[in-house]
Order: sequence, then structure tokens, then C-alpha cells
Amino acid sequence: MRSFRVDLGPGAHPVHVGTGALDRLGDLAVAAGLSGGRSAIITDENVGGLYLERARHSLETAGFEPIKIELPAGESSKSLMMLERIYDRMVEARLDRKSVVFALGGGVIGDLAGFAAATFLRGLPLVQVPTTVVAQVDSALGGKTGINHRAGKNLIGAFYQPRMIVADVALLASLPEREFREGLAEVIKYGAIMDAAMFTDLERDMGAILARETGCLDEMVYRSLGHKASVVERDEREGGLRAILNFGHTVGHALEAAAGYGEYLHGEAVAIGMVIAARLSSLHAGLGTSEAKRVEALLKAAGLPIAIPPDWRKESFLRALELDKKRAGKGIEFVLLDRLGHALTRGLRFEEIMAGFA
Ligand SMILES: NC(=O)c1ccc[n+]([C@@H]2O[C@H](COP(=O)([O-])OP(=O)(O)OC[C@H]3O[C@@H](n4cnc5c(N)ncnc54)[C@H](O)[C@@H]3O)[C@@H](O)[C@H]2O)c1
Ligand SMILES: [Zn+2]
Repeated sequence: MRSFRVDLGPGAHPVHVGTGALDRLGDLAVAAGLSGGRSAIITDENVGGLYLERARHSLETAGFEPIKIELPAGESSKSLMMLERIYDRMVEARLDRKSVVFALGGGVIGDLAGFAAATFLRGLPLVQVPTTVVAQVDSALGGKTGINHRAGKNLIGAFYQPRMIVADVALLASLPEREFREGLAEVIKYGAIMDAAMFTDLERDMGAILARETGCLDEMVYRSLGHKASVVERDEREGGLRAILNFGHTVGHALEAAAGYGEYLHGEAVAIGMVIAARLSSLHAGLGTSEAKRVEALLKAAGLPIAIPPDWRKESFLRALELDKKRAGKGIEFVLLDRLGHALTRGLRFEEIMAGFA
């Protein structure tokens, strides 16, 4: 197991990555200065069935008395209704301000349990135990928590840093194939925007990653979290720099919206968005065309879509991009690569963006 600290002043906290980390959850929590006793494990039905007992055993051995809050799996659980269900259980179990909330699951549970922890009694200590690639390389770190509103995703939320993150990469073995590959889009993103050497290693190791060899997964998660941490440390509240993490996301979000949420998984839409952003990078930021091709090839090797299907809903896609344009004023602020491993932002006119689809 390897560890590092996210350096965020009062929100600083340790991150542990490794195989078998789940069985050390209790000890790690004690070492992080969290007090035992009444606490809660929040999970979903899929993850609960697979890993709850191990988490509970580790916690009980270390002196925690966790209640179990198990919710239906899926995005629709990021709702006020589920939040209320969590509060009800917390009240009933008489959790107090020292009671630790353990979020055991993917990004849905991390966001939802994180927001519950941020708000119950004005804040309970939170531990993120991410179980998907998306959660292990992205959502568990950075302090964004929240739920959806029928008017839009993540409309209600708070920045709230966890007290610790424990990522056991062996848990990824049971993740369905499509969800596993989806998360690789964000991994490839870190290489493209921040770390050319990592990008090259991903090209070399993609086969082993897809075979879920734990050594490769360990390296992948550890490096990804390190990169996300370095961005969040410099820009916790998304003032500027954190925007580079949106590489591929402008087009990705528009695609998701146009296709109707749920048709594309987020990472799939972002993969297509990154291909287009790489092409635009060649046109407007000096990225070599062969490097743009490498971005496309690596995404393809990861089993991700790299092109908009011929039957895509062009009209609604354009409308979604237009919406973005209105928000940004004249041009759309776009994340581009000037070389592999380095990103910048640039205002692009709508027509310039459309050229990326040619
Ligand atoms: N807070 C952030 O910064 C941030 C960043 C990115 C995404 N998100 C949010 O994350 C959510 C998506 O997260 P996700 O992709 O992890 O989805 P998810 O939490 O819905 O998990 C995907 C599916 O995999 C199952 N699962 C989870 N771990 C498993 C395991 N180890 N074995 C078998 N099955 C497992 C889940 O039950 C679920 O059915 C979205 O709501 C998104 O808004 C947040
Ligand atoms: Zn994303």
C-alpha cells in the first residue's frame, strides 16, 4: 500500500492506495485520528453485497460501531429522497458530531454520502472508500459532494473534504466491463493534460490494465490521484487551474445532453470529446497531428468510443453547445493541448469548434 497527503490547509488529508486496503480501513481510520464508536457505512446494494462485511469487520475490530445504510444502486439515488432517508437513519442511530461516515461505493455514493456528511449536524467526519475506477481516480478526491435536482445534475451540493481516502484497487475486479472502461477515459485525460510519461506508460500497459492486473491498476490509480491532488491543491474551489480537468468535457457534456442522459456513460462521451479536443488542439494550439492521433488510438485501445455515431442528434447537440456559448459570452472556453502532457485554455468561436468535427 502507498500513501500520500493532499495538502489543503485545514482540509489536508491522507490518501491510501493498494490491494487489501479495505481490510485495513479501521486501523487506517484510527491512525487518521478518527474516533471509534457510533458511525455509519453508506453503500449501495451492489457494493454492499460484495464488500460491506469486510468493511464492517475491519471497522469493528478497530473499535467502530457502524450502522449500515444501504441504498439502491444508480444515479437516481443522488436525490433529496435518498438524502432524507440517510438523515432519518442518522437521527435514529443518534450519531453525534464525532461519528464517522464511511462512503463505500462509486461516485454516486461518494457524492451523496459526502453531502450527507457535510450537512448532518453541520458536518461529520467523512471517509471516502471508492470502489469504481471513476471514484478511485476522480470523484473521491477534491471535495465536491452533492445530489441532483430534476432541473439538472449536481445542482445541490457543497465543497467538503474527506478526512481520508482509502482506494483498494482489488475491488475493481468485480466492476462491470463497461463501467470499468468508462473510468479509463479520466485516466487517459490525466496523461494527456499533465503527464506525457504516464500517457506513454498507458499505451504500453493498456492490455494489462484491461486484464485488471492489480500492479497496473495500483500504478494507474496512484498516479491519477496524485495528479488530481496537485490540481486541487492549487485550485480547491475551481477558480481557474482546475478547469484543465475539463479536457474533453465541453463536447462530452453537450453529447450527453443531446443523446439524453444515460445513453452515453459520462466517460464515453468524454472520450469522444477528447478526440475532438485533440483535433482542435492541432488546429489551434500547436499539438502535432501524430500526437492527436495517439490520443485517439489510446482511447480506442481502452475500448472507448472515439466518434459520434452517424445517427447522432446534430440539432440538439448544437443547441447544447450554444447554451454553453451563452454562458461564456462570445467564445467557448476550451481546454486544448499544446503538446502531449500539457494543457491550456483558449476561447474558441462556435465555428472553430465545429471544424473539429470535420
Ligand atoms: N465529486 C466529483 O468530483 C465527481 C467527479 C466525477 C463524477 N462524479 C459523480 O460520480 C457519479 C458516477 O460515479 P460512478 O461512475 O462510480 O457510478 P456509480 O457509483 O453509479 O457506480 C457504477 C455502478 O457500479 C456498481 N459498483 C460500484 N463499485 C463496484 C464494484 N467494485 N464491483 C461491482 N460493482 C460496483 C455500482 O453499484 C453501480 O451500479 C456521477 O453521479 C457523477 O456526477 C463526481
Ligand atoms: Zn469527467
